[in-house]
Amino acid sequence: MTVRIAPSILSADLAHLMDEVERVLAGGADQIHVDVMDGHFVPNLTWGAPVVAALRRFTDAPLDCHLMVEHPEAYIVPFAEAGATFLTIHVEATPHLERHLAEIRRHGMRPGVALNPATPLTTIEEIVDELDLLLVMTVNPGFGGQPFWDPAIDKVRRARALLEQRDSRACLEVDGGVTRETIHHLAAAGADTFVSGTAIFTAADPSAEVRELRRLAEAGAGGRTVTR
Ligand code: DX5
Ligand code: ZN
Repeated sequence: MTVRIAPSILSADLAHLMDEVERVLAGGADQIHVDVMDGHFVPNLTWGAPVVAALRRFTDAPLDCHLMVEHPEAYIVPFAEAGATFLTIHVEATPHLERHLAEIRRHGMRPGVALNPATPLTTIEEIVDELDLLLVMTVNPGFGGQPFWDPAIDKVRRARALLEQRDSRACLEVDGGVTRETIHHLAAAGADTFVSGTAIFTAADPSAEVRELRRLAEAGAGGRTVTR
């Protein structure tokens, strides 16, 4: 299993965003996680496609865009034009998941689906084959720095089993409260892509923190019997 570390710029110093991104990429970050919040789907407001376009002008790194918005279909074309790599939408945000995932792929991006803590895995069983990424939220979305939701470990284990059963190559991503304390357990449960905001950007040395999180995740993943 390949471990991917995805620093979330939600916790970065926005006055020096590109410097912050450069630091985590220097530490070996695999992709940059961009949290898009609309003040409706979640009670917080961040940024949209122009920030993705600015990041794309700065780096070739994959941009892992997490849409916490209502009407996610309205953002597909702007994010494609801005240079998003992954576009992840929430299952709770739309009744037309399959249609929007197909449209994301048609626009050259890699489709992902996110599940809030209270949303069961059964909601995505029918569309597993359409996914390049499955995001199991490990906090309720909306803010950085929240405490980790412990039952997520078992949900990640069941999500990995579902992906294996369907022979899916989708990334299994976790987001929220991913720290030195939790990452090992998440990797052992089968997660392979780790979003982390506060832990990385409040560290004295964000580059070193990326390396340390990777080391701990690889150790956790090493405890798994099935690898891919
Ligand atoms: C939460 C966001 C996360 C957030 C994680 O709604 O989706 O990506 O930045 O932040 P930490 O790592 O601080 O929990
Ligand atoms: Zn996120």
